Amino acid sequence: MLYSILAWLSNNFITVLAVLVVLWIVQKIVFATQDRWFAYVMHFCTKDEFPKLEEVKKDHFASLKDHVSHDPELRKKKVIKILEIGVGTGVNFAHYPDGCRLVVVDPNPHFKEYYDNNRKKFPNIHSEDVLVAKGDDMHMIADGSVDAVVITLVLCSVDNIDKILRWQVLYFMEHVQEFDLKKYSLRKNLQDFFTWCGLWPFIFDGCCLNRDPMPAIEGAGFSKVEVDHYYAPVPNFLFWVEMPNVKGVATK
Ligand SMILES: C[S@@+](CC[C@H](N)C(=O)[O-])C[C@H]1O[C@@H](n2cnc3c(N)ncnc32)[C@H](O)[C@@H]1O
Repeated sequence: MLYSILAWLSNNFITVLAVLVVLWIVQKIVFATQDRWFAYVMHFCTKDEFPKLEEVKKDHFASLKDHVSHDPELRKKKVIKILEIGVGTGVNFAHYPDGCRLVVVDPNPHFKEYYDNNRKKFPNIHSEDVLVAKGDDMHMIADGSVDAVVITLVLCSVDNIDKILRWQVLYFMEHVQEFDLKKYSLRKNLQDFFTWCGLWPFIFDGCCLNRDPMPAIEGAGFSKVEVDHYYAPVPNFLFWVEMPNVKGVATK
């Protein structure tokens, strides 16, 4: 058996070498362009509005309009300043109060084009250019310089969750590991498998399906954490593994 494999390899040496070189080049190209195609994948998945999810977001973000700005100038104008971390293509504009000032951060520069196209549709919001930075290293934005911080579907791929949670008011919506193991153990197993084999993190920029950010949020020194565990509506069966979600507001 071993002899015939070795014989086959020596007879096909050039072909095997060529295949290995091609695979190596493809692998290099795929990794070198990962940020770019991930931005496209997110654009592709979010370009069409999904009304059931928009309803959930509408309800979740409704209380943003009740905040009063710490900044006297903005307070006079009855508007607030929001920071969105991990803004991606910019899928939350429709839920921000009119006139708000929006600062956004994302480490992936290839979202810029999609974010800029989306923000053009919302002239009622004063959105700034994307700051290319990680949410866990945001020395350029001082604590207390914004009135509310928003993160949606970000904590699943952040390395230092604790460092992203230093704000006064945090609105979060995140997919999490399955919480009803009696009913949905299959989903929990699939979440573990896709994360463990690296397929999901590879396609979705480090996204871990089986993460639970709640211990970090609850341990981050907020005086009040309102949280709701729910099953998010998803646009197609591929995202069935992302249905268990948490949403809430944490306040210092
Ligand atoms: C799944 S996308 C979600 C995008 C958008 N928030 C949404 O709800 O569609 C995850 C986003 O988090 C960003 N991200 C990944 N690591 C991050 C980090 N350490 N700090 C801030 N954003 C991060 C990614 O670049 C990407 O835009």
